[in-house]
Amino acid sequence: MEKTIGRRKFLRNSALAIGAISLGGLDAVADTKARKARTAVSVPDTLKFNKEGKFKIVQFTDIHACDDHEQNKHSYDIMNNLIELEKPDLVMYTGDFGGGDNIYDRLVGFASSRGIPCAVAFGNHEPEDEKEREAVLNHFASLPGCLNVRKDAETSKLPGATNQIIPIYSSTDAGKKSAILYLFDSHCDHHLPGYDRKNDWIKPEQVEWYVRHSRALTVENGGVPYPALAFFHIPLLEYGEAWNDSRYKNMGWRIENEGCAPVNSGLFAAFLDCGDVKGVFCGHDHDNDYVVFKNGIALGYGRFSGGLNAYHTLCRGCRVIELTEGSTVFDTWTRMETSRMLYHITVPYSFTSDDPKYRPRP
Ligand SMILES: [Fe+2]
Repeated sequence: MEKTIGRRKFLRNSALAIGAISLGGLDAVADTKARKARTAVSVPDTLKFNKEGKFKIVQFTDIHACDDHEQNKHSYDIMNNLIELEKPDLVMYTGDFGGGDNIYDRLVGFASSRGIPCAVAFGNHEPEDEKEREAVLNHFASLPGCLNVRKDAETSKLPGATNQIIPIYSSTDAGKKSAILYLFDSHCDHHLPGYDRKNDWIKPEQVEWYVRHSRALTVENGGVPYPALAFFHIPLLEYGEAWNDSRYKNMGWRIENEGCAPVNSGLFAAFLDCGDVKGVFCGHDHDNDYVVFKNGIALGYGRFSGGLNAYHTLCRGCRVIELTEGSTVFDTWTRMETSRMLYHITVPYSFTSDDPKYRPRP
């Protein structure tokens, strides 16, 4: 207990409490501005492209922490090492954090102690009960350095907790959005009769919320969709369909079947109609890390980042995504726990071009 209090004090005293840069909807979440407080390590309260026009995201997924610190330590060490190596502008956790060992505080602290903000999208192993799920969101939202915000008047009406829109601003104009990140809560288990209770789907209310905001953002940007990425935990039905269809090129490992919902609630179609999301990144299946390119959208997995207690065949690591300002083209690769980079590709050209410079590298 004493240790926990000490660590929380450290986090609060060593990180800049962030303000409201994230949007639950398009309404700014002003109340989080009250969390600002200057301290030793400052964490940016808005996301922005750097001077070179780049923005790098490190995605960790499926931590599955448990009460055995020795088991967790492996993944904690990996995450710390990979953040040091990649020096991202944002750490994105795509769910299944596990319990015990103050995991939520630790995850945020890995990034915030280095002055890097983070955000989370919940997995199926977070609490299924909506009130408990919201309580976990509120805990994350209270931690300095975490960009997640409490539900607002609009997102309170949506199923799940981690539904949020986070803009990335221009390197040269602090008030101009240059890219958008959409976070969705993909829930836990569906209750469909005749199927195993697992792998829920993103609900129509969330799809409608996305479409409404995506279209408004496109209008705001003069009719041109902002380049956008989406993050959530459970893969879309289109992942498996695309992998098994030779028309769609892929890169990476697929060691298990996709744990996707048995029905399609239309989010992929909404991405196509709105035209902004060019990359979707999920977790859930620990032994898949592939990216498949379907209809102009890269459907990708993170790389399992969890401890020894959760099933995995693949060497652990992370996915890295690097955006370029003013472009829908982006690079992505996996970085293994050994520090080795694998499958550096450029989306879309690694899938659409015969130019050797876009071949997967190294
Ligand atoms: Fe998992």
